[in-house]
Amino acid sequence: MDANVTPGRGQWGSKIGFILAAAGSAVGLGNLWKFPFLAGQNGGGAFVLVYFVILLVVGFTLMMAEITIGRHTQLNAIGAYRKIKPSWGWVGSLGVLAGFLILSFYSVIGGWIIAYIVKAATGTFNTSDVKMLGDMFTQFIQSAGTPIFYHGLFMLMTLGIVIGGIQQGIEKYSKILMPALFVMIVLVMIRSLTLDGAMAGVKFFLNPDFSKITGTVILSALGQVFFSLSLGMGCMITYGSYLSKDTNIPECSLYIPLIDTAVALLAGLAILPAVFAFNFPADAGPGLLFITLPAVFSKMPMGGLMGVVFFTLALFAAVTSSISLLEVCVSYVVDEWKWTRKKATVIIATLIFLMGIPCSLSQGPWSEIKLIKGKCILDSVDFIASNVLLPLGGILLCIFIAWVWGLRRVQKISKTDEGKTIITWALEYTDALKEITNDGQVNFALAPIWVFLIKWLAPVAITIVFIQGIFS
Ligand code: PFF
Repeated sequence: MDANVTPGRGQWGSKIGFILAAAGSAVGLGNLWKFPFLAGQNGGGAFVLVYFVILLVVGFTLMMAEITIGRHTQLNAIGAYRKIKPSWGWVGSLGVLAGFLILSFYSVIGGWIIAYIVKAATGTFNTSDVKMLGDMFTQFIQSAGTPIFYHGLFMLMTLGIVIGGIQQGIEKYSKILMPALFVMIVLVMIRSLTLDGAMAGVKFFLNPDFSKITGTVILSALGQVFFSLSLGMGCMITYGSYLSKDTNIPECSLYIPLIDTAVALLAGLAILPAVFAFNFPADAGPGLLFITLPAVFSKMPMGGLMGVVFFTLALFAAVTSSISLLEVCVSYVVDEWKWTRKKATVIIATLIFLMGIPCSLSQGPWSEIKLIKGKCILDSVDFIASNVLLPLGGILLCIFIAWVWGLRRVQKISKTDEGKTIITWALEYTDALKEITNDGQVNFALAPIWVFLIKWLAPVAITIVFIQGIFS
């Protein structure tokens, strides 16, 4: 174990363990549920292309920034900011709050997934009548008791893994669930691609029609990169804090977005060709997963089995994300309040479960309660966390690493200001950030580009989404 690690805090057992856990956090309902329907609604290939560009520019940059802060400080999201500059601790608090809020509604949707595994296994939705399936879905989420029961079950699964700690909990399960998810999604994709008429879906998904690229498409792709890569709330700071000092951060920061994107693409190729093959609308919106897909499965040879496989893989994806959301909160309480992991996990998971109850009820009995911009409780909590706290966290992260921490390092390494040109200053600045990222160990050739992205391009781009998210 690394000499700098606080005893009992935990550390990843291997690099691959870390990559799978971090990719597990990234791969989730964002990939399986949101990505295909956003692509469907925003011009298919056009959306996918824009998503790629933003992923390269913003996704990779912020991923590296978060992991760097975490690994350097070996602390939770709040502690990490505070250790580098005490007055910045509040930025980490926004992240922990975001994790708490996101998990409260994420778990409700995770519960719906468990319910749909049961429905698929018992043949409950064996019909291709979309209207009937729509009614069935609405009736289910509107009922008071059953969705809360499944939400509780989902939280229990999350708690059961996080309580085991880093190596025996999060890493162990990520190493099982992630490869299993991958095999299952490939299976569903093959089934989908071999249907008659599947190629129309592939064309729609992969052929970019440049005329479809509008401001809305760009903004929704940017928001999706954020949510999908688990960025902006200190999740990757927390996971990075369990890394040993000799891990190559730039390399890991490349793998995680790559795996996340691969799964988003596989999900698109598993879902859209089947939707086209059976002539369902591709722009069905959030109902695509719970209404259109069951209809597609019922028409498909071996559809019953495919339904069970699909919702099981969705559950695996959701659980490897929910454990990272819970870990952000648990890690803070363990580090700063010195609670045991067991006590922290049980108490926080219970609070999140309770917080999720109004979210669940807001789909039915409490649907009249509107909090923000006429949105129900679940949508309001999602809005505050995803559209306000995540982008804000992202902008502040860029400012912090490039303008606060980076500048201080420059001051440390440069002895005098005399006779310094802008160029020498810029080179020193780049060196300082390079040193931060690698803790002086790995030669990272793209550092100057990264410095430009983190200082200028990423914060400006995210500011646009943030403003759009608030005022749209
Ligand atoms: N990345 C997850 C998904 O795509 O479903 C959601 C998520 C997990 C967001 C963890 C933020 C986070 F910190």
